[in-house]
Amino acid sequence: MSGFSAGWLALREPVDAAARNPELTARLLDWGRGREPLTVLDLGSGTGANLRFLAPLLGGEQHWRLVDHDPVLLARGEEQCGAWVAKRELNLTLDWRRLDLVSDWARLDFRGVQLVTASALLDLVSTDWLERLARHCRDARAAVFVTLSYDGSIVWEPALAGDEEAREQVNRHQRTDKGFGPALGPDAARTLAARLRKLGYEVMSRPSPWRLGPEQRAMQTALLEGWVNAARQIAPEAGDDWADWLARRRGWIEQRASRLWVGHEDLFAWERKWR
Ligand SMILES: C[S@@+](CC[C@H](N)C(=O)[O-])C[C@H]1O[C@@H](n2cnc3c(N)ncnc32)[C@H](O)[C@@H]1O
Repeated sequence: MSGFSAGWLALREPVDAAARNPELTARLLDWGRGREPLTVLDLGSGTGANLRFLAPLLGGEQHWRLVDHDPVLLARGEEQCGAWVAKRELNLTLDWRRLDLVSDWARLDFRGVQLVTASALLDLVSTDWLERLARHCRDARAAVFVTLSYDGSIVWEPALAGDEEAREQVNRHQRTDKGFGPALGPDAARTLAARLRKLGYEVMSRPSPWRLGPEQRAMQTALLEGWVNAARQIAPEAGDDWADWLARRRGWIEQRASRLWVGHEDLFAWERKWR
């Protein structure tokens, strides 16, 4: 299990929603017009943040298959989304499926799927897995909308000695195996774009950075702590070297004096001849 807590996903959901690239979302909505009913496959759905963002915008009749290997997140999603759909009077069917995206390929159901989507998943996967995904999408003649893939950039304000080293260690950790083989980390979105182009897709990529202001202390703190843990795992020989950097950064966050930029990319791909 990759270990994403429901609490972490809830913390990042509004930040992700604000970061998504509006031009790319608009392009997806243009594509979606007149395709009702729409069948969507959401990979690594967690509790359904991607659905909660996209479904009200897409509108009309939609059928979502939401796939994740974490039963706790799926149960939370089902509970949260049942009430959410009823309240908004959306014309949605939701099919939550517990599957492992690595070992359960044969059970991933692409039949009738017009749109394959994922949010905050891509940096976990390997080149081989992406190849396979791209081929399945092409065979299903499905459009692809993959958002919030980390692009390797982290910028703190105020800057501090150690920032660049921390970023490098985080990016090294990004490339370790998360269950899909050696992870592409910051290269994942670019790699998927290249594979899809080769298969005949038109691809648009746009930035979707997190811009965290001084008031977003919980999110900044969670990221800071996660990154220091990652750096310690990657270079255990550094021992307590991060303690000062961590303390200075924590102090600024607590004093509401810290800003943080984290680069992401959104990608939308559709087959050329469908334009
Ligand atoms: C960063 S979370 C993103 C969740 C959700 N898309 C969102 O935006 O909130 C990554 C998700 O991928 C799922 N995941 C990771 N490895 C997986 C695997 N091998 N099979 C299925 N799901 C996986 C995790 O359980 C988690 O829900």
